[in-house]
Amino acid sequence: MANKKGIILAGGSGTRLFPITSSVNKHLLPVFNKPMVYYSLSVLMLADIKDYLIVTNPQHINSFKNLFDDGQQLGISIQYAEQKEANGIAEAFKIGRKFIANDPVTLILGDNILFGAGLRGKLQEVNFESKAAIFSYEVKDPERYGVVELDNNGRPKTIEEKPKTPKSRLAIPGLYMYPNDVIDKVNTLKPSARGELEITDLNKLYLEENRLQVIPLSRGYAWLDAGTERALLEASNFISAIEDRQGLRIGSIEEIAWQMGWITQSQLAHLGQSIAGSEYGKYLINISE
Ligand code: G1P
Repeated sequence: MANKKGIILAGGSGTRLFPITSSVNKHLLPVFNKPMVYYSLSVLMLADIKDYLIVTNPQHINSFKNLFDDGQQLGISIQYAEQKEANGIAEAFKIGRKFIANDPVTLILGDNILFGAGLRGKLQEVNFESKAAIFSYEVKDPERYGVVELDNNGRPKTIEEKPKTPKSRLAIPGLYMYPNDVIDKVNTLKPSARGELEITDLNKLYLEENRLQVIPLSRGYAWLDAGTERALLEASNFISAIEDRQGLRIGSIEEIAWQMGWITQSQLAHLGQSIAGSEYGKYLINISE
């Protein structure tokens, strides 16, 4: 699949993390040694996406621009757009209509962290030119998420948003892939009881048309969200435990850009040298040698 577009949704007011998020966007908070949004960007980079729109609230847009600029240093393109109110995840496809243009599009929530061997291949093999694709992940508290119920053939039967009595333990992570007609479908959605255009309602439209694939993320994968104080700490601890053990970095967008062949070895070294005072910078210099 060529010419893929990616949207990173990094809006919201982060009220569950006040006062940490009173003046800083949630997705810029550290998860161990890098800003949270690095992890979601890295997942889309592994999916071979080079063209991005970061959607965030007006007061934080400049912080993201300071962090990523136009993306050229990573061999990618990053544009920015505002979500003025917390109108829901699906609104991103309205905001991004021009950016998406005639292409399929992948959306990831800026607070979702996905990690596991083989993720790159798994993401790259998904074909979502005519059918949408969502993922499923077994959790002990599905009522906190979108939940999908599968039939015996692994095909989706029902999808519900935060059901009180979930029909399965399969939560839907914040990573969604859509054919181009998502830009029209989103216009038919009505706000839910919580006043948002729900991603689950959008997925239901594809389910009704028999155009929804569910890709299981098995037990070897880690899917973390970092939206509460406890989850934020646990995510940091998780990343630090694995990184310290292996001496490798998770969610290093500079390293991935180099592995994908989008920047050269000397560009990678240069990125490391520009932050050589940090352990992170030293890691980049190290792997470039
Ligand atoms: C949102 C979606 C939900 C999904 C979750 C993943 O929930 O509505 O379907 O499972 O993200 O993080 P929210 O963050 O709006 O509570």
